[in-house]
Amino acid sequence: MKPMNFRGRWVLITGASSGLGLEMARLLAKEHGAHIIAVARREDRLTALKAELEAAHGVQVLPLAADLSRPGEPARVFEAAMAGRTVDGVILNAGVTFYGMALEQQPESFDAMLATNITSVVRLSQLFAADFVRRGNGGALMLVGSMAGFSPLPYQTAYAATKSFIISFGRGLAHELRKAGVSVTVFAPGGIATEMLSLSGLDRKFKAGDLGIMSAEACARIAVEAFVRRRELAVPGVLNRFLALMMKLLPHALIVGRSAALYEGGLPKGPPAP
Ligand SMILES: NC(=O)c1ccc[n+]([C@@H]2O[C@H](COP(=O)([O-])OP(=O)(O)OC[C@H]3O[C@@H](n4cnc5c(N)ncnc54)[C@H](OP(=O)(O)O)[C@@H]3O)[C@@H](O)[C@H]2O)c1
Repeated sequence: MKPMNFRGRWVLITGASSGLGLEMARLLAKEHGAHIIAVARREDRLTALKAELEAAHGVQVLPLAADLSRPGEPARVFEAAMAGRTVDGVILNAGVTFYGMALEQQPESFDAMLATNITSVVRLSQLFAADFVRRGNGGALMLVGSMAGFSPLPYQTAYAATKSFIISFGRGLAHELRKAGVSVTVFAPGGIATEMLSLSGLDRKFKAGDLGIMSAEACARIAVEAFVRRRELAVPGVLNRFLALMMKLLPHALIVGRSAALYEGGLPKGPPAP
């Protein structure tokens, strides 16, 4: 597939109020001249992003405050995004995690995680990709997974399972839509120095550069490149790609044990002693 040219075209990004989503929005506006539909709950941040990007890059930004954990919100986002415009690119990046023993995750927290990380992604993928197919002139979708989706990750157990879903769903969808000229990219980063990582307390142990932890800016650059070039799967960074390979080759127990060790002692509320 030919790379996308987003100049003067609309790209929707969920989770555009912070971290990876914010930096992808900045790059797509600055370096690709894309108009941005910015989706997240924190409206004040989306409004600030609109002011920033419109002043600096002469693009248009539509801030769209939405809580994607709520039923009906994906459909409302789709309707609002499509009102009077054509959307050619969609990045489904919003996500939440839970750090701690899986037994301690409260039902509301789990339900919100499932709705945000999985249900909203499936629904928005279906709505936007169906429009891409209907229009018949391409379109690019990117789902933000995680290396946590390649192997079980104790103390982010349910989160890692949601990201396994995203990788499998995205790759299956990529195959189904290829003949229609619609690309689906799965982006699977390792650690990124964002609000999500700081919740774990791991940012007190590690900083960007350690253990393959990337800055949001550096990670966004690789993500945007993969999206524009319409790659099917992208893992950013040489170290992360090496680790992803080791996850396939080394014994399961070794990988899971080493992953768990990262969190043991590092969590704000650590797992109880056995
Ligand atoms: N940080 C890492 O180490 C890491 C590693 C691998 C993959 N990832 C993935 O990368 C993606 C971006 O995460 P990040 O690291 O950039 O974390 P982040 O800074 O916490 O950003 C998460 C984004 O998702 C939005 N969001 C969360 N819940 C939402 C909801 N119910 N409705 C709408 N928007 C919601 C947040 O906006 P509001 O709070 O304003 O709603 C925020 O913009 C996630 O899918 C994450 O799983 C992160």
